[in-house]
This record gives sequence, structure tokens and C-alpha cells, in this order.
Amino acid sequence: MSADELVAAALAVRERAYAPYSRYLVGAALRDESGRVHAGANVENAAYPQSQCAEASAIGVMVAAGGHRVNEALVIADGSLGLPSPCGACRQRLREFAAPETPIHLAGLAGVVRTVTLGELLPLSFGPEYLGKEAVR
Ligand code: THU
Repeated sequence: MSADELVAAALAVRERAYAPYSRYLVGAALRDESGRVHAGANVENAAYPQSQCAEASAIGVMVAAGGHRVNEALVIADGSLGLPSPCGACRQRLREFAAPETPIHLAGLAGVVRTVTLGELLPLSFGPEYLGKEAVR
């Protein structure tokens, strides 16, 4: 399955990011277990620590739409200063719904530059199965 649909969704929602403080606009798109795409942008706050990453927004959108699993994810930003990559907290957020093998696409505004797995981003991770919940596979 092509990442083009994820790029288009994340690019569109990135345009609506609320990032007046950092001016670093981020879009994230997730493909759920049904193949549906859910997207979200970063939402900053004058009380800086209350800001929300694009990945967290996208996860909220997926859950609200009834999605349960992330089978593929993409994060997109202006990569001129470096390829965007999920922050540590968002790697753990994704881990709740994705497996170590899940592909994570890292994209600049022209498209995907690199694809890694969640396991590469977050090795030896702690997940739902440690609390007796079904492992994401
Ligand atoms: N940001 C994201 O949305 N996702 C990431 O994975 C990295 C950082 C946002 C948070 C903040 O609004 C801005 O980028 C600068 O840190």
C-alpha cells in the first residue's frame, strides 16, 4: 500500500496546525486496521507544556472514529533543518496502538524521505501486553 494517501492527508492537516509559538507546523497521518486514514496536527498553547504533538492529535482522531490499531504512520514537517521524527513521548503513544514492526514514514514537504519501524524508534519498549492486554501485532 502506498504512503501517498498518508502524505496527502498529513500535508493537508499540517496547513491547519496551531503553532504560533514554534511556527513549526507538523502533520501526522495514521492508517488503521480497516485501512482508513486519520490525520492530526500539532496544537500549541501559551502555557507551552500543554502543547500537543501532531501524532497525539492523530491518535485522538483515530480513536474517535473507532479505529483500534495503527498499521502505518507518517509524520510530515518542513525538513529543511532535519528530517522530522516523532518525539520520545509520541513514540510511546504510537506504541500503544502499533507493533514494533509497524512502518513509520518520515516526510519532508516533498514526500517520504525515510521509512523506519516503530521498533527502531523505540527499542525494548513497554506496551499493553505487559499489563495483560492484547499485544499489538
Ligand atoms: N511536534 C510534533 O507535533 N510532533 C513531533 O513529533 C515533534 C514535535 C511539535 C510540537 C510543537 O508544537 C512543535 O512541533 C515544536 O516542538
